[in-house]
Amino acid sequence: MGDEVNDGIRERLAVVGEIATEIMHELRNVLQVISSSAYVTRQELERGDPEAARPHVAKIERQARIAHSVVDDLMALARGETLHPEPVLLADVMLAARADIGPGSARWDDRLDPRDLRVRAHPGLFARLLHALYENAIQAGGARETTITTRGRVEAGHVVVEVEDDGPGVRAEIAPVIFRPLVSGRPGGTGLGLALARRIAAAHGGSITLVSPGAGGGARFRIELPATG
Ligand SMILES: Nc1ncnc2c1ncn2[C@@H]1O[C@H](COP(=O)(O)OP(=O)(O)O)[C@@H](O)[C@H]1O
Ligand SMILES: [Mg+2]
Repeated sequence: MGDEVNDGIRERLAVVGEIATEIMHELRNVLQVISSSAYVTRQELERGDPEAARPHVAKIERQARIAHSVVDDLMALARGETLHPEPVLLADVMLAARADIGPGSARWDDRLDPRDLRVRAHPGLFARLLHALYENAIQAGGARETTITTRGRVEAGHVVVEVEDDGPGVRAEIAPVIFRPLVSGRPGGTGLGLALARRIAAAHGGSITLVSPGAGGGARFRIELPATG
């Protein structure tokens, strides 16, 4: 029995370590933007031009808000809290998931049935899940503009959300293990995006699977969530 307890503790530590790594990874980007904006702000102030400093201060404030939400959302996940998901418009969560994605990196093809489809979700965490899929699709597509299709519908009492791209698809040798933490098929990857996506889906009482290849040969991921009911 002692071993079972130890296994349980080991598992929790692994989860916490994985989420802490993801938090550090995201905060590093935020801190970089804050440092460079603070530098420009100081320069403008020293030149006696507070008006020119203003947008950079706004950028610092925005990044600080992002840092808070990264910590709040991911700590909730690390503590294994019940999420208290609420019915939210899928379309709104999709937009939040794309907020940081620059124009021109993707062509968005949205097919929600109905258009005001709601999912029972923690909006911040569910947006993070979709963001992980969108980011991977864009990275897999390389330099060209990737078409990303998001489908949403109700199926046999579940809400099904599918994200499909027109990239090269997931390489066969890593496809069976891509949801494992630290498995990455690209240089500079952390291998945490899909591990986190799976954890978020599970925390919603749902699941995520790779349905590969999609109809067009790209990657297709399928998320199932309990119905809004
Ligand atoms: N849409 C996709 N198309 C092709 N390969 C993908 C796609 N999504 C994920 N992958 C593969 O799965 C790997 C793991 O993804 P992820 O867990 O997000 O980690 P990372 O993006 O840091 O590598 C990626 O490195 C890539 O090889
Ligand atoms: Mg990724």
